[in-house]
Amino acid sequence: MNRIDFTHNTQAAQIIAANYDSPPLAFVHSFGCQQNVNDGEKIKGVLMDAGYGMCDKFEDADLILFNTCAVREHAEERVFGNIGALKQLKTKNPKLIIGICGCMTQQEGVVERLRKSYPFVDLVFGVNGIDILPQLLAEKMQAGKRLLKTPTERYDVVEEMPIRRDSTFRAWLPIMYGCDNFCSYCIVPYVRGRERSRKSEDILKEFRQLVQQGYKEITLLGQNVNSYGKGLEEPIDFADLLALLCQEEGDYHIRFMTSHPKDATRKLIDTMAKYPQICKHLHLPVQSGSDRVLKEMNRHYTVAQYMDLIDYAKKTIPGITFSSDIIVGFPGETEEEFEQTLELVGKVEYMQLFTFIYSKRSGTRAAEMDDPFTHKDKTDRMAKLLKLQESIASRLAKEMVGKTCRVLVEGHSRQEGTLAGRLDNNLLVEFQADSDYIGKYAQVVIEDARVTILKGKLA
Ligand code: SAH
Ligand code: SF4
Ligand code: F3S
Repeated sequence: MNRIDFTHNTQAAQIIAANYDSPPLAFVHSFGCQQNVNDGEKIKGVLMDAGYGMCDKFEDADLILFNTCAVREHAEERVFGNIGALKQLKTKNPKLIIGICGCMTQQEGVVERLRKSYPFVDLVFGVNGIDILPQLLAEKMQAGKRLLKTPTERYDVVEEMPIRRDSTFRAWLPIMYGCDNFCSYCIVPYVRGRERSRKSEDILKEFRQLVQQGYKEITLLGQNVNSYGKGLEEPIDFADLLALLCQEEGDYHIRFMTSHPKDATRKLIDTMAKYPQICKHLHLPVQSGSDRVLKEMNRHYTVAQYMDLIDYAKKTIPGITFSSDIIVGFPGETEEEFEQTLELVGKVEYMQLFTFIYSKRSGTRAAEMDDPFTHKDKTDRMAKLLKLQESIASRLAKEMVGKTCRVLVEGHSRQEGTLAGRLDNNLLVEFQADSDYIGKYAQVVIEDARVTILKGKLA
């Protein structure tokens, strides 16, 4: 496990400072999942350590950095569109540095496209350059030309990185990095590298700090949290880690994502049941309701095994809610197979569903599969799925009316004088109260339900 060599970053900071008359400003934006958002917080921490101030408008920035996501084609094209829009800023301010990092730039093809078609992009590095970012910037400044790193694989875990968190009451806490599952549609294992878990002592240390700093919601992150502990010297699994963290005294609650169904255990459900600090909500992405499609997806579970776990969770934790990810139109998915997904969604009754039309990612196994169905077939299926989910979600939300729930107040809602907060099950509730409640817990009586937003009043 590597520790940052701060001496090199200190030297780099001096080189950076010498380039500006006053402390430079950076605009950092992260696309994609929470892991990426957490990386973005570390990028900001490292930059601030190197003497940068942060700004909210890219027009004000001396450094613009996009931390990108590669999971679907649409996500990538959006990033390319955003990069294109920066070109004119560069003509106004030739000293501006435009940097692209994250999952997209772990692909050689993307680095090539940036090299050829986006000459105003100055700096490119993958998911592993965050700890040495000041050195990359100094190198770029000294060389006076573009610095485009080709993707490299680095399998270490860097601890003790500086961090500037976006929130003062909700925190992301990565427990592992990378993914070894190679679901046949997914690019993540290629861009994020092999699975590596953080030592439990390092996680516990960060967790304690967060609780002491007053963080209320701590979300444990990993592409598959259920494979936590594999490869560590200490014998520990994800349920053990949860139990360990729950020994900490304090006013907080824990969420986690993502749980891969193939490794989710009854022990995990029992642990959720045992500790009141763990939210009674499980995000358990099923992807499809067809055993054949699941096999082609390389998911390593059947619908029956999935339902067995859901049923056990419902029995063990009364009132538990679920959410899921579903891919519509995986190559070769037939109408009947899609109907099986609808059937499963109807049985589980998810509180929330994140639905995606299959997107071809080159280099993955599914990219080689025959795909006889049209985009129109897929959007039709998507519409059916969304309609079903809306009816389920609004029914579940209506069942909440009359209940008194603890919510973590997140901020103002669109309506003046009202705040919005989240329940254990991730649903948003709006209610009238003054701003003092932001970042704190409130007891709220649910009075009305509109599909996914609840209305309530302070209890
Ligand atoms: N590691 C997590 C999720 C990572 S990506 C897990 O295994 O659940 C988040 C979601 O994006 C996935 O669950 C999947 O539903 C979706 N996704 C991933 N690759 C995709 C692709 N090529 N096309 C469409 N959706 C995809
Ligand atoms: Fe992708 Fe599957 Fe890994 Fe999730 S578990 S990141 S879907 S390969
Ligand atoms: Fe996207 Fe990378 Fe996350 S591809 S979903 S940002 S791990």
